[in-house]
Amino acid sequence: MSEPEIVVLADPEACAATAAERIAASLIEAADLRGTAHWVTTGGSTPGAIYRRLAVSPLRDEIPWQRVQLWWGDDRFVPFDHPLSNVAIAEADLLDMAATSGTSGTGASGVDVLVGRSPGAPIPAENVHPFPIPQAIGEGQGPEWAAERYVEILRAAGPPTDGGWPVFDLVLLGIGPDGHLLSVFPGSEAFDRDDIAMGIPAPTHVEPHVPRVTLNPRVLEKARRLLVVSHGASKAAVLADILGSEPDVRRLPAQLARREGAAWILDEAAAAQLAK
Ligand code: 6PG
Repeated sequence: MSEPEIVVLADPEACAATAAERIAASLIEAADLRGTAHWVTTGGSTPGAIYRRLAVSPLRDEIPWQRVQLWWGDDRFVPFDHPLSNVAIAEADLLDMAATSGTSGTGASGVDVLVGRSPGAPIPAENVHPFPIPQAIGEGQGPEWAAERYVEILRAAGPPTDGGWPVFDLVLLGIGPDGHLLSVFPGSEAFDRDDIAMGIPAPTHVEPHVPRVTLNPRVLEKARRLLVVSHGASKAAVLADILGSEPDVRRLPAQLARREGAAWILDEAAAAQLAK
């Protein structure tokens, strides 16, 4: 198994700062080399602080947001204004779609009458691709339906593919207490499916106990860059297992990100049990 780059920093704030700089560099490079940067983001407790750095100068002004396409690796099957939604985190700390596609309807940032909220990253609303969960709920459909629609959206607006799998430029990931990433839990059926996205039943062993939609873990093999961010003493044991044990991705799905081309940004508390 090729090994990832591991960066250990003092605390979560330092992790967020470094992760934001890495994301900016990856998006700039992808846009320069390929014209468009396809970024898959995550949920949980790590992205908020990262987003807040990307949404303000200097990083906000350095990233060619018009050429960024934002995707989600997974989400909870709840409305976007629900506190558990991974889109809600981005809406609060990264985006301000009301400031970019609101009163003027042009979708161009900076020309709308600001609605009393500071404009976040000026990414055009049409470049932001959440799982169509509200639509699914509205139509009385479930996570699998939302996942199927997402595959259609990916076909229309997604990155180039390799063997039918989208090749994202960057995937931002957190690590669950059970060693999951995306919404691919240990022993997940996702490992036996060929769908690019799928619905996942509500897990009972980790919070939150709500159904999910997730990208297939196979997309992590194709992605050009993976950026894992994890912090806190509660992750120390599972990170030591992930990064130190023999490869067994069905037991520890996060080992899919234990590879060359991946960077793991950890604070000292989370890295405390890593082999020296
Ligand atoms: C989610 C995330 C999930 C998350 C891990 C880590 O929807 O919850 O996509 O994969 O990254 O559970 O979450 P924490 O960083 O909050 O522990």
